[in-house]
Amino acid sequence: MYLRIKTGIRGFDEIIQGGVIPNRTYVISGPPGSGKTTSGVQFLAYGASTGEPGLYVSLVRGAQTTVESMSGYNLNIPMLVKREKLFFIDVKSAAVYGDADTRIDPSTIYVEIANFVNTHSIKRLVIDSMSTLRFSIKDHTAEEAEIGRFIQNLKLLDTTTILLSEMIDPSIYSTEQYACDGLVFLHNFMRGRSMTRAIQIIKMCGTAHDCEMRKLGFTENGVFVSGEVV
Ligand SMILES: Nc1ncnc2c1ncn2[C@@H]1O[C@H](COP(=O)(O)OP(=O)(O)O)[C@@H](O)[C@H]1O
Ligand SMILES: [Mg+2]
Repeated sequence: MYLRIKTGIRGFDEIIQGGVIPNRTYVISGPPGSGKTTSGVQFLAYGASTGEPGLYVSLVRGAQTTVESMSGYNLNIPMLVKREKLFFIDVKSAAVYGDADTRIDPSTIYVEIANFVNTHSIKRLVIDSMSTLRFSIKDHTAEEAEIGRFIQNLKLLDTTTILLSEMIDPSIYSTEQYACDGLVFLHNFMRGRSMTRAIQIIKMCGTAHDCEMRKLGFTENGVFVSGEVV
């Protein structure tokens, strides 16, 4: 039996035997607007309000925008940020015009994240996203090896980690999806004239689960998982 920690996503913990196994690395993959950032921040907010400091790393300089949009939910984000239980930071994954910059690659990004994790005793980590981490890789022939190394290094941290990744084609698996301990797909698809959002567990090591697609709903309290999509 494993110790498990709740993600705080209603309806999700119930289908993974009560929560995720701590100190492991998980991937949430989905198309734009499918709920990756919301799910990740909700996982952090739940941890932060139950004694596990959380860190959200934006690799597209979008940390402040994320704080603002997520503060609209009843997740106590502003208070958790103020009390330094929850941190939102930008880490550069690409130089912008005007940057005299310097070296940006997955290992410099890792060092910056690891330093922050150690300084603030971070227990829950979300990186948004693996797709933008790829921007920092100059030698594209080494891209998959770099991603694999980045994930191996993340496993050295004393954190439960969720990596967010953009998914275009669900039939093509990426390195982060192979290398992680658990993989969850978010889906966005049209049914008739309306958009349906769904969640599906592809793998969850050490956990009995099914691979059904379940509805993912949004409320003022964040996302929740309900019945199977039929
Ligand atoms: N109360 C809400 N506040 C913000 N976004 C909401 C709300 N309810 C539903 N949404 C939806 O959440 C979506 C954003 O989800 P997000 O987690 O940012 O997705 P992703 O990170 O996968 O692109 C928006 O497209 C919006 O339609
Ligand atoms: Mg997002």
